[in-house]
Amino acid sequence: MDYASYAKEKAASIIKSGNATVLAIETSCDETAAAVVKNGRTVISNIIHSQIPIHQKYGGVVPELASRSHTERIRPVTDEALSKAGLTLKNIDAVAVTFGPGLVGALLTGVSYAKGLALAGKLPLVGINHIHGHIAANYLSCAGLEPPFVCLVVSGGHSHIVLVRDYLDLELLGKTRDDAAGEAFDKVARVLGLGYPGGPKLESLALSGDPHAFDFHSPFNSGDHPDFSFSGPKTAVINLLHKAKQKGETVNFADIAASFQLSVVKVLCAKTVRAAKLSKVSLVALAGGVSANKLLRSTMLEMSESEGMKFCCPEFEYCTDNAAMIGSAGFYALMSGRLHGLELNADANPGLK
Ligand SMILES: Nc1ncnc2c1ncn2[C@@H]1O[C@H](COP(=O)(O)OP(=O)(O)OP(=O)(O)O)[C@@H](O)[C@H]1O
Ligand SMILES: [Mg+2]
Repeated sequence: MDYASYAKEKAASIIKSGNATVLAIETSCDETAAAVVKNGRTVISNIIHSQIPIHQKYGGVVPELASRSHTERIRPVTDEALSKAGLTLKNIDAVAVTFGPGLVGALLTGVSYAKGLALAGKLPLVGINHIHGHIAANYLSCAGLEPPFVCLVVSGGHSHIVLVRDYLDLELLGKTRDDAAGEAFDKVARVLGLGYPGGPKLESLALSGDPHAFDFHSPFNSGDHPDFSFSGPKTAVINLLHKAKQKGETVNFADIAASFQLSVVKVLCAKTVRAAKLSKVSLVALAGGVSANKLLRSTMLEMSESEGMKFCCPEFEYCTDNAAMIGSAGFYALMSGRLHGLELNADANPGLK
């Protein structure tokens, strides 16, 4: 029997049983990650190799260095995920892998390796959209969570308000018109001399600042529409620093960090809760690296509860890139029969599909 027929047959028997142990791989940007996840909800192992030390001296991710590092780390990271789970490929039911969006060279490493594993183990292969993965991180952390809900996906490359009608039925309700929220955090952190990745460093500095010291809000964000702009607040910070330098004045960086963080968080929460109300759903979720931000988590909780909505967010370890979230999304794709063959390719910009 050829691979395609074998994988199809295996997938049919998995769907019938309703159970699957998925080996998941994620290499879309600067983390090489592998995980073993049971039935979309239980993480058995979750290994992440971060490339931060490689890219730190350049102030951002260097795509070629990212691809090379993924190539070196993909095998040991996957082997570790299996051994920490106490399993071998023989105990795995399916392989899930991020196919996009992301850096194409980085994605190709994971996709190629996953294809090799699927072929060697005669296992079904499921390609997963990284954004679907971030959203699925909520299924790992919030017991009993079921669609429909509205999820704010805020990461290094995306600021999306997504209506999750069902596990695989997503609709984009709103998005950033320019910078992603994480990108804006990183750029502001860079001009404040905090280094890369800037989000967590800016959050720490903000703790000692006055969030009302400056008003960095953008008029675009006041509109009655679901889209964001973060380039305006970022430019306001840069202009403030520039003017202060020209006048020889000193500015309190902690006040800038706290005011910038508050301006971003306020607009993210207000627009998400409004979108949830308009969509008539009673649950709001968070996803992506910026969802690790404590002010964002507490403000979204407060605002959604004040509208009588429930709130869910991933545990910290599942906010930034990881493979456990891909394993969860992979389970639901597998159960709906959405399989890929060995023709699966990396796609740097697949949208939400
Ligand atoms: N505590 C925090 N506060 C604010 N931002 C944060 C925090 N922790 C992480 N971030 C930001 O999250 C981003 C990284 O998130 P993630 O790993 O999901 O992004 P990515 O995978 O590079 O982008 P994408 O998911 O859009 O492809 C960075 O911009 C980082 O600064
Ligand atoms: Mg990500």
